[in-house]
Amino acid sequence: MRTTTLGNSGPEVGVIGLGCMGMTHSYDLETPRDYQTSIAVIHQALDLGMTLIDTADVYGPYTNEELVGRALAGGHRDRAVLATKVGLVSDSVQVANPGATSPGAARNGRPEHVRRSIDASLRSLRTGHVDLYQLHRVDPEVPLEETWGAMAETVAAGKARQIGLSEVTADEIRRAQAIHPVASVQSELSLWTRDVLADVLPYCREQCVAFLPFSPLGRGFLAGRFSSPEDLPREDFRRGLPRFQQDALRANLAIVERVRDVARRNEATPAQVALAWVLAQGRHVVPIPGTKTPRYLADNAGAADVTLSAADLGELDAMPAPVGARY
Ligand SMILES: NC(=O)c1ccc[n+]([C@@H]2O[C@H](COP(=O)([O-])OP(=O)(O)OC[C@H]3O[C@@H](n4cnc5c(N)ncnc54)[C@H](OP(=O)(O)O)[C@@H]3O)[C@@H](O)[C@H]2O)c1
Repeated sequence: MRTTTLGNSGPEVGVIGLGCMGMTHSYDLETPRDYQTSIAVIHQALDLGMTLIDTADVYGPYTNEELVGRALAGGHRDRAVLATKVGLVSDSVQVANPGATSPGAARNGRPEHVRRSIDASLRSLRTGHVDLYQLHRVDPEVPLEETWGAMAETVAAGKARQIGLSEVTADEIRRAQAIHPVASVQSELSLWTRDVLADVLPYCREQCVAFLPFSPLGRGFLAGRFSSPEDLPREDFRRGLPRFQQDALRANLAIVERVRDVARRNEATPAQVALAWVLAQGRHVVPIPGTKTPRYLADNAGAADVTLSAADLGELDAMPAPVGARY
């Protein structure tokens, strides 16, 4: 796979990475987990050059990092650019938190939480350092400068090579940069979630900050996986999301049809078109599509070789806005 530099001074990574969240968390929780296949998918990603491997301590909690740790043990660690996150905590009380990635996750940006969590993550991941340590969400109760200062300590201590942010504004990136370099920003970007194009993505480009789009396949929707809410597994985070409700989902199928048209013209799959559009947003953009399925992983890797024409991009840019908020 072709590569790019992660930010200004970061390591070379494949232009498409792998998000591991769905291997243990959020999606399809009624199907028994097949950890051997998930581990094989992580190895397949490394073999294909999809070297950026993304997880977080809140996924599970902890089980996702443990799975990634198992996959990278036994000689694979050095092949990966390993990214994890801190700052969301699993809460047994189901709190209504619109910024959370899953029900029951609350924000914790206290410096002592960061200091404790990095050691726990390193234990789960079976490694002495992570390549990228990301703040999952800014905690409104804690000044960003304090949280970011604790994140910077993890670099000074050799526990993280670089630090990044997630779901932040350009102003928050600026505030963090005043204290320690921001290597990356991970926020949602896909054909149906484009908010960052206005401000955050151009700021990252200008500052040589890597931008890591999460949910680049619209949580599977843009790949054409779901034509009705009944297609979603019963225990699945997406069942609660506005865009996946009956009427919204039906209206949003028009978006998938447009993606399918472009895919047919390019002899590509809808997932590849969705990823190729994200890649076309800049050389600093490294999407991290999630999958636990070997054939989807191979499909996603192929997106690096799909070059959309100006007409294709124009058609996709002109896509109607989705019905329903993202959370
Ligand atoms: N920073 C944050 O707040 C945040 C929030 C959400 C996610 N993330 C990160 O971003 C990563 C990706 O996001 P995501 O998993 O939410 O959404 P996504 O990548 O947009 O979509 C994942 C879904 O698409 C399916 N899929 C993947 N490739 C496919 C293909 N080629 N054809 C058909 N279906 C395909 C997967 O199926 P299977 O799983 O069944 O294979 C899964 O259901 C996560 O793993 C996580 O690391 C970060």
